[in-house]
Amino acid sequence: MAFQMSKLAARVWLFKSVGFPSSAGNRCPTHLGLISRLAHRSFHALKALPSPGLLRKADRWEKVSTASKSLHRRSGGAVKARRITGAVVGAVGVSAVALASLSTSTLHAMSARPELNLDSESSDWTEAKKKLCSMDKEKRRETYRVDFIPLEKIPVWSPSGDSSCKPRYKVNEELNKKISLFSGDITKLEIDAVANAANKTLLGGGGVDGAIHRGAGPLLRKECATLNGCETGEAKITGAYGLPAKYVIHTVGPIVHDSVGDREEQALRNCYYNCLHTATKNHLRTVAFPCISTGVYGYPPDQAVEVALRTVREYLEQNHEKVCVISLLVFFSCHCCYCSMRNTS
Ligand code: APR
Repeated sequence: MAFQMSKLAARVWLFKSVGFPSSAGNRCPTHLGLISRLAHRSFHALKALPSPGLLRKADRWEKVSTASKSLHRRSGGAVKARRITGAVVGAVGVSAVALASLSTSTLHAMSARPELNLDSESSDWTEAKKKLCSMDKEKRRETYRVDFIPLEKIPVWSPSGDSSCKPRYKVNEELNKKISLFSGDITKLEIDAVANAANKTLLGGGGVDGAIHRGAGPLLRKECATLNGCETGEAKITGAYGLPAKYVIHTVGPIVHDSVGDREEQALRNCYYNCLHTATKNHLRTVAFPCISTGVYGYPPDQAVEVALRTVREYLEQNHEKVCVISLLVFFSCHCCYCSMRNTS
């Protein structure tokens, strides 16, 4: 599991909780080898086969081009108009001819593979989700709508060696190898799933919710619309579509108005626990979390960090064999967690 939390807070807290983790642990197997997406894209673009709709359009355009050519011959229309129409007709004629000149088997093949269009509302999300799940990593990288950071680039956590904090848990080197810290944008992580700090509608919003929906594209919202929302503390999983992650686990954090009470703390704990449980139930081994509820929902980051890291530690103790890597992730504006955590330690 990759776990997204404020870095300094995580650093201090983890130091307290797990002591001196090894600075580098073996990572779960990951796929190296970045591919030049540009080369692949142009290659695929050439190979890309227009959809049946395009073939029908080309067919229609070809009829238009022949009809307008004979009309011009008969009417001897104005040179200018003729030139423009001729150019348009010519262009269409050429493309229609180009298509027509392809062998029938290629044409047949061309219409056999509908494109995976993650940018269009009208695409079928179930179809797209199935296709994406069946692709290997290289193929999937062709579909990302955002830049990506491969798992091997998410560093395993190594505390500053600050001996002033006493670990609250017994040091466990095995668990330590499953925790890493990363400061950055959750939408770029090429991991099994990213958790989303959503709202009860699951239909998108601002903050990390907005970023995830923007990166995933419109099909995420289409699938979310079938889930009938989500209660605070619950977790629901969907495809990730245009994101480098394979899935999104949506959860709704507690809203803190004045101060944090037992109810809010338990709800936040449920968010992390239920997301981790949803991940392992779906055999996902790397998941990233934003600092749930520490933005719009007003949960004080330094208190949120305590709940999040305690939940992670306890979950790891009970399920470490199901977990590959938990890397604590932070978004830039979340550094405040570290500082406030530092002061209270
Ligand atoms: N990557 C990682 N973390 C991010 C990103 C990102 N791209 N964008 C924001 N964050 C961090 C914020 O810095 C904050 O620490 O995520 C944390 C959660 O902040 P919010 O996104 O505001 O989420 P939350 O406080 O749980 O409020 C949820 O906000 O966006 C709406 O629809 C959402 O109504 C819901 C509410």
